Amino acid sequence: MTNQWLRPDHWSLDIPLQTEHPRLSVLAETGFVALADASVAIPDDEFMALEYMHWKSGGDTNFAPVATATGDLDCRGFWQEGDERPDKAARFTSNAKLCPTIRDYVDSVDANFGRVRVIKLEPQEYEPALRQIHRDDNNRFNPPNEGWVVRSWLELTDNPNSFMVLMESGADGFPDPATEVRLPLQRGAQFVVDTQRLWHVVCHVGTAPRYALISSFETGPALERWIDSELPVSV
Ligand SMILES: [Fe+2]
Repeated sequence: MTNQWLRPDHWSLDIPLQTEHPRLSVLAETGFVALADASVAIPDDEFMALEYMHWKSGGDTNFAPVATATGDLDCRGFWQEGDERPDKAARFTSNAKLCPTIRDYVDSVDANFGRVRVIKLEPQEYEPALRQIHRDDNNRFNPPNEGWVVRSWLELTDNPNSFMVLMESGADGFPDPATEVRLPLQRGAQFVVDTQRLWHVVCHVGTAPRYALISSFETGPALERWIDSELPVSV
């Protein structure tokens, strides 16, 4: 099987789609939910001051860990050999002290969270971005009777012409272009994505890096309540 963007043995193809984990009905149809723009503004100096680490995912990226498995500044921590943990019940890192508004935002969701990170993404055009499209291994070591782990985004910089690309898997397991959805990345944009189900990557057309907060959350009544409270008001 071949694909125009990805190697035939791409690692995402090995990540399960069907499991027993309880999931959220609001994500059942499309795998994502776009929320209203955040009511809280994150000051620039909070995310600019963080300690960023070299970690490549979805392009030319750096990550500032805000919450990790151990509270250490470590981008991998949950899956250490001999100490494997699901991506939940994280602890805030030293970075969290530098970004109290971000920490309060994560706490305000009032759901079990795993890794919380600020991503710094250098500009990348659409076609190069698609070569980075992938699915996440969010539920490795997650007991099947516990809530499915999904991810939320909060855009920290204003890039309304940049967008998150989402695609379902086609019959061959690769991303299906016919299902493409684009979520614009204006400052304050918030969305929750089942990134284990949906292929995803960001096309960032700006000239300066784009920053966003990415948090893993366990699905369940708490996350559902928060999503309900953040849905756009229909007119
Ligand atoms: Fe991802």
